[in-house]
Amino acid sequence: MTDKASIKHIKHPSPTSPEQRAALMQNPGFGKVFSDHMVTMKWTAEKGWHDAEIKARAPFSIDPAAAVLHYAQEIFEGMKAYRTKDGIALFRPEENARRLAMSAERMAMPAVPEDLFIEAVETLVRTDADWIPDGDGSLYLRPFMFASEAFLGVRPASEYIFCVIASPVGAYFKGGYKAVTVWVSDDYTRAAPGGTGAAKCGGNYAASLIAQAEATKNGCDQVVFLDAAEHRWVEELGGMNVCFVMDDGTLITPPLGGTILPGITRNSILKLAQEAGLKVEEKPYSIEQWRKDAESGKLREAFACGTAAVVAGIGAVRFRDGSFSIGNSGDGEVTARLRADLVGIQRGNAADKHGWVRLVK
Ligand code: PLP
Ligand code: COI
Repeated sequence: MTDKASIKHIKHPSPTSPEQRAALMQNPGFGKVFSDHMVTMKWTAEKGWHDAEIKARAPFSIDPAAAVLHYAQEIFEGMKAYRTKDGIALFRPEENARRLAMSAERMAMPAVPEDLFIEAVETLVRTDADWIPDGDGSLYLRPFMFASEAFLGVRPASEYIFCVIASPVGAYFKGGYKAVTVWVSDDYTRAAPGGTGAAKCGGNYAASLIAQAEATKNGCDQVVFLDAAEHRWVEELGGMNVCFVMDDGTLITPPLGGTILPGITRNSILKLAQEAGLKVEEKPYSIEQWRKDAESGKLREAFACGTAAVVAGIGAVRFRDGSFSIGNSGDGEVTARLRADLVGIQRGNAADKHGWVRLVK
């Protein structure tokens, strides 16, 4: 079931009017406004993927015993569609398909074949193309899969639902693209070796919420997680990867190794940084070193990167006993350059040398 005709189109009975849509899209923020349609499909052990449909976005009806509600068998992706001069563009969507398959494997769920994943995403983007904002905004796409089988025994479920929804978005952080402040979590870790840190599963985010709430209470935008074993090595933020720019032109980022989400933005930024003449090092970086380097000036810039956040400078770091600032506490030169390089490609304003952009036909 991987050909285009396999996704059945069910007419929306009452789509949003152009006036209403324009009002909703004026200042959408992040993840609050949703487009008209959704793609859904089902999986059972007997039939595999079937009943693929695009239809009016509506609540699910699921059994109270559905396994996802009890054992959190759920995974998701995050990606964006952009309006460009060449048409509607997706950025490296096959990487999202691959990562969803990796997450599925870790969570003992069935894989969505790459071509079916792309077809589902493209069908939604084509159908809801009017929901893609102009200018700086984009249409955030949220493909996800959950265990729908009604069964309370603890084992991988035998029924799943895959769905894609879309949300017109502006900047992820309230302050737009100004530098963010981060909170180092002392009490909580996000992921441990052998755990699910490299999978994009809802449970990782559920476990991070208390730390994120603590960050917010302390006036910070994001939480920084340290490694579970020594509580010393910087891993990533609650919803984005992290990079450090040193005074000798080196860009350091924590290595992937099972406890960090392999960000598609991270991977792209590392390539762009190399092309910009930076020396890229994927190596452990400790919180003590971060503080020392920021204080000595060896660390010039730090930034967060991810689909939702794009590239956001980190201006200051707070923790229980103090704080320190980085560089000029604003957007550094390298951060701004790498963001411009990335956004230029994503929005079709710069040459796509790596074949990262996929136009939706
Ligand atoms: N790390 C975490 C925990 C995330 O939630 C995200 C966002 O998806 C990222 C990193 C960045 O990944 P990507 O660049 O693929 O969006
Ligand atoms: C994304 O960037 O797509 C994420 O899933 C992270 C979250 C902060 C929305």
